[in-house]
Amino acid sequence: MSAYKIEEHSYDVVVVGAGGAGLRATLGMAEQGLKTACVTKVFPTRSHTVAAQGGIAASLSNMGPDHWQWHMYDTVKGSDWLGDTDAMEYLAREAPKAVYELEHYGVPFSRTEDGKIYQRPFGGHTTEFGEGPPVQRTCAAADRTGHAMLHTLYGQSVKQKAEFYIEYFATDLIMSEDGVCQGVLAWKLDDGTLHLFNAKMVVLATGGYGRAYFSATSAHTCTGDGNGMIARAGLPLQDMEFVQFHPTGIYGAGCLITEGARGEGGYLTNSEGERFMERYAPTYKDLASRDVVSRCMTIEIREGRGVGPASDHIHLHLNHLPPETLKLRLPGISESARVFAGVDVNKEPIPVLPTVHYNMGGIPTNYWGEVLNADAENPTRVAPGLMAVGEAACASVHGANRLGSNSLIDLVVFGRAAAIRAGQVVDPKAPNPVLNKASVDKAVERFDRFRNLDGAIPTADLRLEMQKTMQANAAVFRTEEVLAEGVAEMDKVAAKMGDLKVTDRSLIWNSDLMETLELDNLMPCALTTINGALARKESRGAHAREDYADRDDKNWRKHTLARIDGSKVALDYRPVVTEPLTKAEEGGIDLKKIAPKARVY
Ligand code: FUM
Repeated sequence: MSAYKIEEHSYDVVVVGAGGAGLRATLGMAEQGLKTACVTKVFPTRSHTVAAQGGIAASLSNMGPDHWQWHMYDTVKGSDWLGDTDAMEYLAREAPKAVYELEHYGVPFSRTEDGKIYQRPFGGHTTEFGEGPPVQRTCAAADRTGHAMLHTLYGQSVKQKAEFYIEYFATDLIMSEDGVCQGVLAWKLDDGTLHLFNAKMVVLATGGYGRAYFSATSAHTCTGDGNGMIARAGLPLQDMEFVQFHPTGIYGAGCLITEGARGEGGYLTNSEGERFMERYAPTYKDLASRDVVSRCMTIEIREGRGVGPASDHIHLHLNHLPPETLKLRLPGISESARVFAGVDVNKEPIPVLPTVHYNMGGIPTNYWGEVLNADAENPTRVAPGLMAVGEAACASVHGANRLGSNSLIDLVVFGRAAAIRAGQVVDPKAPNPVLNKASVDKAVERFDRFRNLDGAIPTADLRLEMQKTMQANAAVFRTEEVLAEGVAEMDKVAAKMGDLKVTDRSLIWNSDLMETLELDNLMPCALTTINGALARKESRGAHAREDYADRDDKNWRKHTLARIDGSKVALDYRPVVTEPLTKAEEGGIDLKKIAPKARVY
């Protein structure tokens, strides 16, 4: 019998997380008349999507010729041929529809002279299947696109009578004996009560786990909460070794300077004042794909051509751009540069460094957002009652490397897809499940155990140990030796979880307990990332092995599946989906166009 006061709630659908994907899913569910709750640990408009700057990719052709097939080709190539073909086709085809929907919901996009949605160039987005010049495909609301989207989607969701549970921290999934998700347990942060959300469908939209690293553009709230819940439920995480470093985090502070800065004409230089990207990527230069630019910057620094007193970063120049462009198109990052780097972008370059930005891996799903309880024998087996969308999920459209501005479009395309699918599989007239008492008890006991942890190590100390290890041992460039050392270190770090000390035993606004629960979510993310990276003996996208410099399609064009038992990681693999949704003769892409080849920009 629990000593905690637990309130129960019943919904058709419970969405956990209120970023772009969570809100788009919530809105779509509520629009269809499904009784929908959105449970979120931060106020919706403070979710990490608010930090998305440069824009959202869709082949609208507002600034010149474009085509969904060119967008799909760029996404396939960007993914370094690890993305699932059906999901990438779905993304590129549905993108324009999803953006026009956003426009009609009220997202205040920047405009062209003739009133169309303004689009800017972004890295890796091209014309003519990579043979033509860069394309202006990234739809922008100045450099605050995510901010604009969140406000609009939240307002629309409220209008559709979705119910919001704000500042509720979801701690665990409630699973039936036979593996059906039945709901979630959540802790209400402001009054300390526990809440059981009973649902016919749970949608995890909990974002990434950037905070497993020391320096990240991600908010401090990006702690892989959904991934942690999935790992504890015995379900797999997919492709966790693929961690994106954004080329332009502000040196020291880590906060993002949008790729849109280079899209508007910015460029990088080394200590010799050289525009070095011209050497590495002669065609697309500073607008090559992110993983490529981050590696080139790292090489420049390693070879002694970094800038600054310690030669340890790179310069991003915007000072040649007209002041009106900076004011109109890049006001947010102009302010960030002033506040966090003390730089006037009109006059001086911004000091930048590749910084952890995005997790390509996450909870495996199909392109409807249904979570996969996959293994080698059952690569497409669905986990009933459970969906995942956004950065928490791995659909997989980004494969080994995501293109800039393909994240915001992923959020809305797959948030919307999950809602469409839920409309087909959730029966509003059916009764809610009877919750599995054993699963509820286990979740409450875990919460209580963490609340009463009485070891010797403060949570912040162990978190820092994990972050430093990941930063040092699973970085832009990787080797067997460094990864193996990282795995051994992370095993030691994870083993200390039982020796944590939570000093605050209260239930109200207990940030000590919350950060400890978050650390328990970050830990499986870090472990699966570094173990997956050690096992993958090739270089692909963001996973750059110096000892296995080439992509190895014969042995490694497959998704990693990582399950966690305690702190032990068990790896398995499933094949990449190579079939498109639409055959070429029915209007789909010619598969020859997206056949694997060398990835050069
Ligand atoms: O550079 C940026 O504005 C980030 C965009 C993205 O990660 O998609």
